[in-house]
Amino acid sequence: MSAHHRFDVLVLGSGAAGLATALALPTHLTIALLSKGPLAAGATSWAQGGIAAVLDQEDSLEHHIQDTLKAGAGLCHPGVVRQVVEGGPSAIAWLAERGVAFDRETGPEGRGRYHLTQEGGHGHRRIVHAADATGRAVEDSLLAEAQRRPKLTVFEDHLAVDLIIREKLSLPGSGCVGAYVLNTRTEQVETFQAQHVVLATGGASKVYLYTSNPDGATGDGIAMGWRAGCRVANMEFNQFHPTCLYHPEAKSFLLTEALRGEGGLLRLPDGQRFMDQFHPQAELAPRDVVARAIDHEMKRLGADCLYLDVSHLPADRLTQHFPNIYARCQELGIDITKTPIPVVPAAHYTCGGLVTDSRGRTDVPQLYAVGECAFTGLHGANRMASNSLLECIVFAKAAAEDIARRLAKTPQTEEALPAWDESRVTDSDEDVVIAHNWDELRRFMWDYVGIVRTDKRLERAQHRIKLLRREIHEYYAKHRISGDLLELRNLALVAELIIEGALARKESRGLHYNKDYPERSAAPRDTVLSPSPLRLDALASHRWRA
Ligand code: FAD
Ligand code: SIN
Repeated sequence: MSAHHRFDVLVLGSGAAGLATALALPTHLTIALLSKGPLAAGATSWAQGGIAAVLDQEDSLEHHIQDTLKAGAGLCHPGVVRQVVEGGPSAIAWLAERGVAFDRETGPEGRGRYHLTQEGGHGHRRIVHAADATGRAVEDSLLAEAQRRPKLTVFEDHLAVDLIIREKLSLPGSGCVGAYVLNTRTEQVETFQAQHVVLATGGASKVYLYTSNPDGATGDGIAMGWRAGCRVANMEFNQFHPTCLYHPEAKSFLLTEALRGEGGLLRLPDGQRFMDQFHPQAELAPRDVVARAIDHEMKRLGADCLYLDVSHLPADRLTQHFPNIYARCQELGIDITKTPIPVVPAAHYTCGGLVTDSRGRTDVPQLYAVGECAFTGLHGANRMASNSLLECIVFAKAAAEDIARRLAKTPQTEEALPAWDESRVTDSDEDVVIAHNWDELRRFMWDYVGIVRTDKRLERAQHRIKLLRREIHEYYAKHRISGDLLELRNLALVAELIIEGALARKESRGLHYNKDYPERSAAPRDTVLSPSPLRLDALASHRWRA
């Protein structure tokens, strides 16, 4: 008999969004916080550049709002942009209270103020950071506090399979009452029952062959939310970071945009600069512009990579502000104080996600989504650097307040939920199918749904994803589940949503560039997709029946 847990709130994800939501909830509530692998293995720990917030007197909230709107290419929701930007200074204060040691100015001039850097699209220095490992500082401090909270229980190696929805079990009422979760240590599926569930499962950049993201960025929350009946929006806007290290041994190593903020220059193999031909802000143009320019130049020259050159900057400034990048490159034989660094673009951030309102509520009652898995309307067609961690904190606080308010009002009900049923499936006999499909999916997404798209490529990708999803669904229906199979199932669903979103957008805007429609349309619109009960993924799973 597998375990059955009961909590007031179930938070799926232990990155910035999940931890901040859990910590912002009142301490008397019982909370389960789950992570599918090691606790600090999400994208948060990998964040380098920092968190955008207006803290300098020369800067203003209005400027941060305008920069965000401009980067978002006409699709940001202005009310949400204001909500997040206005929440910036208090989000930084909240993190600092929890022990995040952001870098401060040194010397008499600075008088202990935060040291601020600049990144693409930002018209001012407004990035608060902890050297070049801001995410690690945030993750470590929030995790330490979570582990001290008496009523907060942390579950590592617990991979949520699907949300438990009243309607699917024919229980009275509607909405989410928990999740089935694979304990990857015992290989048992456990039941987590809760009054409210928060998806904070991060993004889906692993859908692409080359990515700056950790392996777990497989869009699980987006897929689970969709299967539970949530709409998704703007899935076609996949952000490619312009500068990931190009080196055979350096899988997924990012070179922060702050290097360009400090004066780093992009160069062709012959040493020429080129960004000034693409945008007046040159190296500090918004990310979509820089990534597309690099892609264009690489294809034009048939080059494997281009170069990020910081060798003209003072060596002590580089080693002080970018100690981790300096050390990692040094390990690989690149002295960044002397040599240009080989770079390529890679999939970095999922701008689309589960549609939420200003409190993180999804379409399904009692179900919230916070962080990279959510679509709040902040990022529009292109997320501005360092606005993501900020969004995580601002929306975590909003969602936690809403949950607390509702729990204080609603009487608690406890019904029996059926256990996961594995009686009609067998052990997987051909794991090679899973590995093969993972590779195939990520490769055709890179080739056909990448930085530059055409309708023909998108249609090709759509044809392949349909076949792949059918195969995965059949495999899933017959075999006992594993982490790899669950992630593949989610990744394939998210890929289909990305392709569908990309095909629906008959224009080029922000991160979505389609050669067949190179212009922006006059009427910007979100691409909102709604799950239909007839879709493959929405079919009730027999495993749910007791
Ligand atoms: P994550 O931090 O990715 O956490 C996801 C969590 O969900 C993990 O704990 C994971 O185990 C869990 N999870 C996933 N699926 C399941 C499941 N099925 N069951 C249970 N648990 C699950 N943004 C900035 O604002 N500033 C930066 O400087 C910056 N730099 C970046 C650098 C890199 C290299 C990368 C990859 C991203 C960067 N970003 C940056 C983006 C930012 O880090 C992420 O958008 C943000 O951290 C997402 O936080 P999150 O809490 O939503 O998800
Ligand atoms: C970076 O440091 O360049 C990443 C910042 C971000 O993705 O917001």
